[in-house]
Amino acid sequence: KKVIFSGAQPTGVLTLGNYLGAIQNWKSFEDTYNCLYSIVDLHSLTVRNNPKEFKNACLSLLAQYLACGLNPDKNTIFFQSHVPQHSELAWILNCNTYMGELNRMTQFKDKSAQHKDNINAGLFTYPALQAADILLYQTNLVPVGQDQKQHLELARDIAIRFNNNYGETFTIPEIYTPKMGAKIMSLQQPEQKMSKSDENPNGTILILDEEKRLTKKMKKAVTDNEGVIRYRDEQPGVKNLITIYSKLTELSVEEIENKYDGKGYGHLKVDLAEIVTDTFRPIQEAYANYMDDLSYLEKIYTEGALKAQDLAEDTMKKVRKNIGLV
Ligand code: TYM
Repeated sequence: KKVIFSGAQPTGVLTLGNYLGAIQNWKSFEDTYNCLYSIVDLHSLTVRNNPKEFKNACLSLLAQYLACGLNPDKNTIFFQSHVPQHSELAWILNCNTYMGELNRMTQFKDKSAQHKDNINAGLFTYPALQAADILLYQTNLVPVGQDQKQHLELARDIAIRFNNNYGETFTIPEIYTPKMGAKIMSLQQPEQKMSKSDENPNGTILILDEEKRLTKKMKKAVTDNEGVIRYRDEQPGVKNLITIYSKLTELSVEEIENKYDGKGYGHLKVDLAEIVTDTFRPIQEAYANYMDDLSYLEKIYTEGALKAQDLAEDTMKKVRKNIGLV
């Protein structure tokens, strides 16, 4: 079976963007690929966290993965920090990645502008750790949202260079982004991506938002003065709502446009709020149950780590040998 790797950071509750851009697709691969889905806790150390809250956020993200339907019998689900080979390979890849390459990363530029008081070395070398995550498992395909493309292109460049310098070591990973929903936009600023760290909470829908809150955010969504429900770049707010609608109902854009022909934005928003609520309700119920059963979570992440460690160690043996470590 071909291998899939992906992950999300435990920096808060998953957004509708995370769900549609990534998690929803992850599930669709579980029967045809050997899938590894990690909670990339080491990546989140690049920002300051309260240790107690952080630990809780890590367990919560595991419960969110499961609640979103990732089946632990079919997928390997684990904490990145439980597989020390990630850190080991990250160091080696750091030594094979140029400052110039890391300097070009837009996420580094954005994050260092946001956290001026904590522009740490880890934030800078973040993409090398991400490359290690992927290359460690001889990954063939990496399903992500649009915003991760630049990091993945760098991971490919690093792998190609490494293979050229030290002989065939890594599989070169392909990038997978969904045709629709690879970049869900903020409900308040539809020219910006929906993000956990948005300073305006109304722009972001979280998978654990309760119905009232969710409906309020949806009703407040920024649209325009055109007054027609059309999927086009001139109407970024409406386009975003149609995208979300289409992804959750599997109705085509055309079917949605026809359905709302001659109707107002309010109508679309109320219906969409209901659709999103209906999607998240079972996830929220499952989430509450998982969070009540920490021993089950422990069983899942322990088994996941053992499986991942085995695979990771196979690659590390090859890496150590190829670079000449005794
Ligand atoms: P993170 O935690 O920011 O996001 C997790 C996944 O959600 C996608 N995503 C979106 N998709 C569509 N619309 C949006 N508004 C939106 N916001 C986020 C992201 O593209 C991502 O797929 N660096 C990564 C985590 C990571 C990783 C990896 C991913 C670490 N190692 C190896 C893949 C492979 C990150 O911060 O994702």
